[in-house]
Amino acid sequence: MAPSTFTLTPSSISPSAFTNKHILITGGSSGIGLSTAELLLPFSAKLTILDINSPPTTSSLHNNKSVLVITGDIRDWKYQRAAFAQAIKQNGELAGVFVNAGIGENSDVFFTDELDQDGELKEIDHKVLDIDIRAAADTTKLAIHHMRKNNGGQGSGAIVLTASLAGYLASKGLPLYSAAKFGVVGLMRSLKNDVSRLNIAISVVAPAITVTPLLTKDGTLTLDSEVTKMTNFGVPLNKVETISTATAWLLSLGQKSNGKGILCQADKLIDIEEGLATSRKAWLGEEMLGYFRNGRGMKDFSKLKSKI
Ligand SMILES: NC(=O)c1ccc[n+]([C@@H]2O[C@H](COP(=O)([O-])OP(=O)(O)OC[C@H]3O[C@@H](n4cnc5c(N)ncnc54)[C@H](O)[C@@H]3O)[C@@H](O)[C@H]2O)c1
Repeated sequence: MAPSTFTLTPSSISPSAFTNKHILITGGSSGIGLSTAELLLPFSAKLTILDINSPPTTSSLHNNKSVLVITGDIRDWKYQRAAFAQAIKQNGELAGVFVNAGIGENSDVFFTDELDQDGELKEIDHKVLDIDIRAAADTTKLAIHHMRKNNGGQGSGAIVLTASLAGYLASKGLPLYSAAKFGVVGLMRSLKNDVSRLNIAISVVAPAITVTPLLTKDGTLTLDSEVTKMTNFGVPLNKVETISTATAWLLSLGQKSNGKGILCQADKLIDIEEGLATSRKAWLGEEMLGYFRNGRGMKDFSKLKSKI
């Protein structure tokens, strides 16, 4: 049976869940990342923001002594590596990492042919893949690298990655974005068993369309006009606070968040991973499910040979 939808408010989160806890957020200067940071501050969290831009001067993050902002491009491994090191030096071990920075897909790489300087078919622009899955994997690597040393080497911490509805159902017109977000879901699913042996949890939050500046990045309409247009078409929209609350809730669950995939649509939430796991026989068939179950016990499939 499919799991039921649910809703959350900040009061669903324990008031002490983030007291003096260090949370690092990529893409924390706008939209979902900014909203998550603003939600966590009153919980007395210590925050590190990695973003190509600084947070707006109007936000509670601006000039806040609980917030360390390290600007740079997450596609640059050396920037991310140094930023994690600086963050931990200043704010202590990481209790949570929100792997969230991302961009949408506005150009058409598959049906519009461009020529390079030799007059040959031009290579596609990989920016969406580079930011939304390649750099997200780099952030995840750094999170695991540091979190496994937490708690005197016992490991601890929660990682939440921003996937998308497009990473579960695919979105027409967003082929590279969908591929990247399917990648984010795959990263979480493949890592969840191994990271739990390090006392680290990994999960995804998967928003459907959410009212953030990302919706205006093709530059044609203002955010208000975009929202009006979509509402008139009956598109179910999320408020940004729905996603930040779901993220904070996942981070607050610690180990219990491991393997969750919280799909958010029309401000309602569902753990889609739970539904997929319990309905496997329906979509995989008994025979294929049997082969899968027989094969997955092989120990060599685990990458984590030792905890250290
Ligand atoms: N808004 C939506 O409808 C929606 C739906 C599903 C998933 N998402 C995902 O949510 C995440 C956050 O998006 P948002 O809607 O808050 O958008 P946003 O544009 O408001 O915020 C994204 C942030 O990421 C930062 N960023 C982008 N590329 C970067 C880079 N290379 N290096 C460092 N920082 C970079 C931006 O500067 C920005 O602050 C993204 O991963 C996006 O794919 C958004």
